[in-house]
Amino acid sequence: MCGIVGYIGYREAYPILIKGLKRLEYRGYDSAGVALLNKDSNLSVYKSKGKVKNLEQYCEGKDISGTIGIAHTRWATHGEPNDVNAHPHYSQTENIALIHNGIIENYLTIKKLLIKEGYSFKSETDTEVLVQAIEYIKKRYNLSLFDAVKRTLRFVIGAYAIGVIERNNPDVLVAARKGSPLIVGVGEGEFFLGSDATPIIEYTSEVIYLNDEEVVKLERGHQPLIHTLKDIDVQHETSKIMLTLEDIEKGGYPHFMLKEIFEQSKSLTMCMNGRLNTELKEIKLSGVINHIDKFKKAKRILITACGTSWHAGLIGKYLIEEFCRIPVEVEVASEFRYRNPVINPGDILIPISQSGETADTLAAMDLAREKGAFIYGVCNVVGSSIARGTDSGTYTHAGPEIGVASTKAFTTQVTVLIMMALTIGRELKTLSEQRYKKIVTELTNINSKIEEIFTLNQEIETMASVFTYARNFMYLGRGYNYPVALEGALKLKEISYIHAEGYPAAEMKHGPIALIDEEMPVVVVTPKLRTYDKVVSNVQEIKARKGKIIAIVTKGDVDIKKMADFCIEIPDTEECLTPLLTVIPLQLLSYYVATKKGRNVDQPRNLAKSVTVE
Ligand code: M6R
Repeated sequence: MCGIVGYIGYREAYPILIKGLKRLEYRGYDSAGVALLNKDSNLSVYKSKGKVKNLEQYCEGKDISGTIGIAHTRWATHGEPNDVNAHPHYSQTENIALIHNGIIENYLTIKKLLIKEGYSFKSETDTEVLVQAIEYIKKRYNLSLFDAVKRTLRFVIGAYAIGVIERNNPDVLVAARKGSPLIVGVGEGEFFLGSDATPIIEYTSEVIYLNDEEVVKLERGHQPLIHTLKDIDVQHETSKIMLTLEDIEKGGYPHFMLKEIFEQSKSLTMCMNGRLNTELKEIKLSGVINHIDKFKKAKRILITACGTSWHAGLIGKYLIEEFCRIPVEVEVASEFRYRNPVINPGDILIPISQSGETADTLAAMDLAREKGAFIYGVCNVVGSSIARGTDSGTYTHAGPEIGVASTKAFTTQVTVLIMMALTIGRELKTLSEQRYKKIVTELTNINSKIEEIFTLNQEIETMASVFTYARNFMYLGRGYNYPVALEGALKLKEISYIHAEGYPAAEMKHGPIALIDEEMPVVVVTPKLRTYDKVVSNVQEIKARKGKIIAIVTKGDVDIKKMADFCIEIPDTEECLTPLLTVIPLQLLSYYVATKKGRNVDQPRNLAKSVTVE
């Protein structure tokens, strides 16, 4: 939610900031803005509703010079998306400008105090309160910008990543974080700020990950100075980021989403690399093996996540219960964190998150840790808040996912969960060696099967054009493919704005069947499963009510093929691996329905890639 970028150094800041905003636009695109200090130390703020390109147009002909600046792309929380509510925000005297990602929860209390002190406000945002408070504290206690930011943040409740600059102070950029991501890029004679590494990697691969409640002063000619809010000096080593520019560009595809769908065999290779030995047919997952006693003793595993990651977690339950015989509970993080869940020492919590920054998942993880659970993370973004807050874990190594709709993150999360379940099951001896080897062998072949599904791309595109009329879609699946049905429905609704629901196929009779008529497309995800025959009956029931059937079946299927209006045939594989294949036609179907309806699939309305606020 919201992207922030900052620069201080020897180059012109504006082009770096604009390029950075474009890379961060996936985090929010309601408005964008930039603040620059020019050679005379004058502070200018330019902002505009809508996308970064609107901001660029707005800036044409204006003074955009300066080697220090901050910029922001917004996903609105407090106040509608308009020019006034856009960031950066000025302080009362217009001497300080600030950008902010997060929510200041006690902003109304602070605002009332400031109003009593004669401050007035232009916007409806919590952010403006913060910048005014910094100015007030700075003046009242005669502090430097760095010290004023620290002192102000001590009484702020909420989440923030901020960047602050000040008129007549062209050598200093101050930034801070708590609960929202912020990275400092360290170059030769220059520093960068970013909500993630994407605006930074073109210039440097050396970064500092700030911890919560840390404030950094980036000053020309000096090393970064980092203090906690309590004034304790902190030293951080720089880390190397492994991203390349190619990773974050569209590479000839019209959208990031399509690129990321087609990248899935590559991302699964990265995910299994060094973990799955294709010759020995063995998995080595050091995170699990190093803590195998915890898994052996665990009476229960809890999985928590949001959105697509929650769907991967549901598949994790099927996998772990089948192969490890350990009871697993899966719950969306926003419910888990607020209902005082029973967590006993010895329980294992697996938070799953692509970004590693989802506020609810982060809070659920903190709660479970406080109550004594062992935390095993499954994250994509290296160095993210969730990844850093775990006791151990496995990175998915999907590479950067920029399209708002999660695709390769899902298949890599499922792959990690498969490798975990196989490893634990083998250690616990709840999974026979023969079965272990059979599934591992199949896993080594999964990428060629994914590639085979990509050859159906054209067919899926043609099929999608038939369904742009639909106002509702139903998705049905059973067992391992029930979460895939949920995921297919989520993909369609978030990028095409068509209402879609996923159900366990047999639940259809308990209500949803009333919705079926000749207008209703029903996507049935039913490769060869132990419950295949049961799903055949469900398909007959849909057919009898004239529903339009799109079936995802195993190659060579006869029964369902006869009844379906459209059939997508996927290669045969082990039942527990089928989600890695069945989800791909669903991703492509939603992509093509959405693009044919003219939707912006990479930046769907009202959404942002990473939900760092509640
Ligand atoms: O970064 P996370 O995996 O924690 O994100 C969780 C959800 O916000 C995310 O999966 C969301 O549902 C996607 N837009 C789905 O495509």
